[in-house]
Amino acid sequence: MSQKSPVAPEFFKEIAQLRTELDDANYRYYVLDDPVLTDIDYDQRLRRLQELESQHPDLVTPDSPTQRVGAALAEGFPEVQHAVPMLSLDNAFDDEEIMAFVKRVNERLERDSDDLIFCCEPKLDGLAVSLVYENGALISGATRGDGRTGEGITSNLRTLRSIPLKLRGDSIPQLLEVRGEVYMSHSGFEALNERARDEGSKVFANPRNAAAGSLRQLDPQITAKRPLEFCAYQVARIDEDEAPTSHSALMARLRKLGFRTNPELDRVQGSAALLEYCQHLGKKRAKLDYDIDGAVIKVDELRLQRELGFVARAPRWAIAYKFPAEEQTTWLKAVEFQVGRTGAITPVARLDPVTVAGALVSNATLHNQDEIARLEVRIGDRVVIRRAGDVIPQVMRVIEDERPENAQAIEFPSQCPVCDSTLERIEGEAVVRCPAGLFCAAQRKEALKHFASRRALDIDGLGTKIIDQLIEREWVKTPADLFHLKADDLSTLPRLAEKSAQNLIDALEKSKSTTLPRFIYALGIREVGEATAGNLARHFGSLEALMQAELADLEAVEDIGPIVAAHVHAFFEEPHNRETLAQLIEAGVKWEEAKVSARPQPLVGQTWVLTGSLESMTRDEGKARLQALGAKVSGSVSKKTAGVVAGPGAGSKLTRAQELNVEVLDEAAFLAQLAGWENGESGKDEQPSDEETA
Ligand code: IVH
Repeated sequence: MSQKSPVAPEFFKEIAQLRTELDDANYRYYVLDDPVLTDIDYDQRLRRLQELESQHPDLVTPDSPTQRVGAALAEGFPEVQHAVPMLSLDNAFDDEEIMAFVKRVNERLERDSDDLIFCCEPKLDGLAVSLVYENGALISGATRGDGRTGEGITSNLRTLRSIPLKLRGDSIPQLLEVRGEVYMSHSGFEALNERARDEGSKVFANPRNAAAGSLRQLDPQITAKRPLEFCAYQVARIDEDEAPTSHSALMARLRKLGFRTNPELDRVQGSAALLEYCQHLGKKRAKLDYDIDGAVIKVDELRLQRELGFVARAPRWAIAYKFPAEEQTTWLKAVEFQVGRTGAITPVARLDPVTVAGALVSNATLHNQDEIARLEVRIGDRVVIRRAGDVIPQVMRVIEDERPENAQAIEFPSQCPVCDSTLERIEGEAVVRCPAGLFCAAQRKEALKHFASRRALDIDGLGTKIIDQLIEREWVKTPADLFHLKADDLSTLPRLAEKSAQNLIDALEKSKSTTLPRFIYALGIREVGEATAGNLARHFGSLEALMQAELADLEAVEDIGPIVAAHVHAFFEEPHNRETLAQLIEAGVKWEEAKVSARPQPLVGQTWVLTGSLESMTRDEGKARLQALGAKVSGSVSKKTAGVVAGPGAGSKLTRAQELNVEVLDEAAFLAQLAGWENGESGKDEQPSDEETA
């Protein structure tokens, strides 16, 4: 049938009409929530279109509804750099914390009345993805990943009928990057699991896991069979004349362009209405056909969002209100003590398995010794377990009335359960630690798992079981030893065939080419997560510079305070760590050196405050330029403040600066100073400040 015959005009017409009908049907179903076609009618039209297209393959366009399912990927998912980082949100757990958020926002915006407009919507419990459209066509879709780099899962996302392959309407933006959540509805999830049970295949624990598993399929045919949905909640980039100026207007624009946004989305004014929204949504939660774990509250106006800006990984203009978590009761059967990566000893409660918030729970953390004392919990007790979303289940309290007579007190060990070292508890800290560091097999294991993990060196195939064996056989003591493993030795490990052994060697080889942020993160320095590792890498540009940094240099890094600085400093002071680093580099671990900023940094150690508005730039830009010169920018004036930049509308901060005799610059003076500093003039000699970045 694929023989080429002349195309009759009716053909064109019918193909075009079918495509429009199918696109419209999706739009009516997903966006307007007002279906026009039954599933049977939809499938019938789709099949007719497939038939026509197979007769004229030259008429197939990438955005045709028949082109949702593409070929499988052989090589895994490609990396995708996010042009705008995908951030997370800070949380509020009760009304008070929501009020504190509103207060912070109003203060920062220097507003006196409680009349700010917020846009609120449910916080969907799925996975964040980002979609890029150029001239109306979907060209790329990616996961969040670490927020800067995600996985390219375009082919899988194309299979979702709620994701338009092309934008609707006459006027479409040249560039559009839309973000939203991919999730599975309760009904979709039930149907999927029922099918899985029938077929004897894997049953998913909850809709979120099912959605995650479905998106990470290399074969889009599999994803296409999973009932995934997409709901848009953010525009990261839009390139068009007269783009909307508020979040709510952007959401309306997205609906016009063909995206589903949440029907519960609402605009509210002032904190009372905000609290009411959250309460109302909480009541509605049980009736929704999808999991939500709270509400997301966003300052509506984009101009104000820009003014508020960001801290480390979250915007200041939004917050996630999390519903109180679900609770269940069960029996505490035993307590075991686990040794973490940094030696922290965590008591873990072994429980009679119980389903909490959709997942089977058989372990829960008891945190530390103080927590055990506070709970007055004993082995054998009936306990209340709470689980919120991804969070590790916790023991909340004991039901004392049900305490059996033979309930036993929990004894905290004095020796490390793994290496027998005497445990330490530093005064003022709640945590008991095994001080043996990498000499303790448990810490070695955890350090290696972290080193190999996906966001660190991403060593494919180096899972927990293999790491356990490598440590037990003492083949590997430090991460550097990994790179001296031989395929012949590995293949003697139980359950590791020759092929897998060679694959692991290849994966190790591949992991050697990494990036500086990943490498720093992989080292497992206490309190250094991905965001901090990224900040360190960008600030110092090279491992050598980071290793030589003094405490004060470290504290000058964006979002690093004295505690983290001390951990980083101590890590690089430790001779064992230096030795391991040298061995890693010797073994061939490498990365492209980040471009060291050639810029002078005359303001290191100084804290500046911006208040009021500026004409030639936003406060955020002003802040960024000061930070690029090494300054910290704070939200409050103290006697240690090096200078205050005050524009029109400056209020109490200006008065405070004048009281404390802190230098105040108007915009013109500030611009002149900036130009001087950026051209290499030195900053003024001020006492270094210990204030934190605001
Ligand atoms: S807005 C700048 N809106 O929550 C951050 N996020 O903690 C923009 N999420 O990774 C996020 N529903 O996966 C936003 N209505 C919603 C959301 C939502 C769920 C998730 C999202 C993100 C995480 C942030």
